[in-house]
Amino acid sequence: MSPDHPSCPVPRSLTRRGFLAGLSAGAAGVGLAACSPETRSDLGPEVIPPGDREVGDARPGNETVMFDGEHQAGIATPFQAHLNLVAFTFVEGADRGSARRLMRLWTEDARRLCRGQTPLGDLEPEMADTPANLTVTCGFGARFFDVIGRPEAKPGWLGALPAFSRDQLEEKWGEADVVLQICSNDPVTLSHATRHLIRAGVDYVTVRWFQQGFLNSDGRRPDNVTPRNLFGQKDGTVNPRTEEEFDDIVWIDEGPEWLYGGTALVVRRIAMNLDEWEILDRTSREVVMGRTLESGAPLTGSDEFDAPDFGARDSYGLPVIDPASHVARSTNPVDEPYQKIRRRAFNYDLPPEPGSGQSSNAGLVFICFQKNPLDQFVPIQQRLDEKDRLNQWIVHVGSAVFACPPGVQEGKPGDGRTQGGRDLYWGAALLEE
Ligand code: HEM
Repeated sequence: MSPDHPSCPVPRSLTRRGFLAGLSAGAAGVGLAACSPETRSDLGPEVIPPGDREVGDARPGNETVMFDGEHQAGIATPFQAHLNLVAFTFVEGADRGSARRLMRLWTEDARRLCRGQTPLGDLEPEMADTPANLTVTCGFGARFFDVIGRPEAKPGWLGALPAFSRDQLEEKWGEADVVLQICSNDPVTLSHATRHLIRAGVDYVTVRWFQQGFLNSDGRRPDNVTPRNLFGQKDGTVNPRTEEEFDDIVWIDEGPEWLYGGTALVVRRIAMNLDEWEILDRTSREVVMGRTLESGAPLTGSDEFDAPDFGARDSYGLPVIDPASHVARSTNPVDEPYQKIRRRAFNYDLPPEPGSGQSSNAGLVFICFQKNPLDQFVPIQQRLDEKDRLNQWIVHVGSAVFACPPGVQEGKPGDGRTQGGRDLYWGAALLEE
């Protein structure tokens, strides 16, 4: 994003001092009525849901995340260091039978890969034996339901999101038929698993886009520490953690029944202008966010998990947390399950575009999960789109929405479901009818 970019109103001449002066004026001019402090009794380091991890031997890299279960892995699972988010389009002539074969194949292969085993037809067992918490999560885009001839089974919220005024969406990062979110702490394992799944699906789907991301590397930080984005901020502090919160915020229990226990995935590709951001001094960066860089604590607190106090004033009578800061704008004004999301964002950092005048090409593959994006992601993003200090340094360039079916259970394919009603492969309840 260049300084002359329409969505980047920061003139190149912006000085740190000038910026701060602007902040104070802005802070004084905006009312605080909508922002009340939220209780954060539920906050704390991210915990691994009980039973989510299988214990192997102590060899590093041997850690696995349970593939089978009520919900797909890779949603509540604590973040891994590397992400491949791959979206696909069905080939010409694909139908429900193709989708069924693809899902059977992918479910079986993903299960084996996540256990560190070699999938059928893979000649490279050495490439699969270090799962390093590999997870594979599958989602269906809006057109999936036309291809399988079941438009009535499509959840009402699935499809392109309403446009936001600052969007600069590029078609190349747009809606797709199917998505796989593949994550691991080992980039070689991740690459191999991704390659295998793409190859396995080649008769049915072609790659539409491929977004890679990364976070702080496993083993290079204490367990459960919130990862940092490329603006240097702890990103992921406020997130559902308990089973109850996941039930309230993430797992679907209304609408088409085949999707119960599943969730909605929204992915936004967000470019971050590091060149312009780095003009700011540390204090300004903290004011933009409303949190400190070092600990991630709100500017009114001392610990990362302290609740922000949006009513607090400094000695000049100005709000300590700028009402236009990202935290003030993204916090739910009323404490209710809706307008909360499970964020699982990864950084990207690519070579600068030749001729862009920028020395970086970085941002977030912003992934979030929820029951219904129209009730959760959309109102939050509407608030941010309308006003958020961070907007000067970011621009949304990609957007896609997917319905992630519930978790699966290993078994002999019969009618696609177990007696207890769990799918034997992704989307079985949808595809077998
Ligand atoms: C490049 C873009 C973005 C950056 C760098 C960013 C960064 C951050 C950071 C550092 C925090 C504070 C720590 C935390 O709770 O994780 C935060 C909080 C949050 N962000 Fe963002 N964010 C971005 C985009 C978005 C978008 C697109 C949404 C959703 C529409 C969003 C929703 C939230 C929410 C809900 C919170 C928690 C608010 C609360 O305290 O309750 N963010 N973000």
